[in-house]
Amino acid sequence: MFNAYVFDAYGTLFDVHAAIARHRAAAGPEAERFSEIWRSKQLEYSWTLTLAGRYVDFWALTERALDYAFARVPSVDRTLRPKLLDAYLALDAFPDARGALAGLRARGARLAILSNGTPRMLAAAVEAAGIGGLLDAVLSVDAVRTYKPRPEVYALVDEAFSVEPRGVAFVSSNRWDVMGAASFGFRTFWVNRARMPDEYADVAPHREIADLAALPSLDRD
Ligand code: LAC
Repeated sequence: MFNAYVFDAYGTLFDVHAAIARHRAAAGPEAERFSEIWRSKQLEYSWTLTLAGRYVDFWALTERALDYAFARVPSVDRTLRPKLLDAYLALDAFPDARGALAGLRARGARLAILSNGTPRMLAAAVEAAGIGGLLDAVLSVDAVRTYKPRPEVYALVDEAFSVEPRGVAFVSSNRWDVMGAASFGFRTFWVNRARMPDEYADVAPHREIADLAALPSLDRD
């Protein structure tokens, strides 16, 4: 067992494609492509602004990426904009998220989220998923005004829990986030739900898992 389990939010606990899924019929046949562009641009903006030494919060990036997706995929009706943003604030949690958190908590672990999301976004998502009572901390990059995978972000965990990086299990479905967390010194668990090929071979995850359900029963080594 690790002292602390820290979870990425978007893509790991919360399904970023759930917003479009709620409006799939209205969005039309290019809904999936639209959602992929929305997500990939949101992340791209976080990386490029960070490289340029700038910071714009993740809600603004989510809005800008959505506007770009509308421009790229004109078949999706722009009047869906407010509905999609509302849905993004209350994304569905993956079906295995609650059980995994509860299982780890039952074993005595401290649990946290560490995410690019703003405090407002994360509070809304946690509330919608009903997992607030299972979490000891919800940490946002907004506290340091820079994005993953900058080490200052991962250092927020050490400050919050007073633990050394090697005592932290960091869980993310984003392989680039796993790379950043492993570089920082966390033990990493890559949740490879989509069976994607591995990347960043020189910064391997401690373990690759298919979903969150396996997590509570895994031993430390
Ligand atoms: C997050 C991004 C990576 O939740 O989705 O930090």
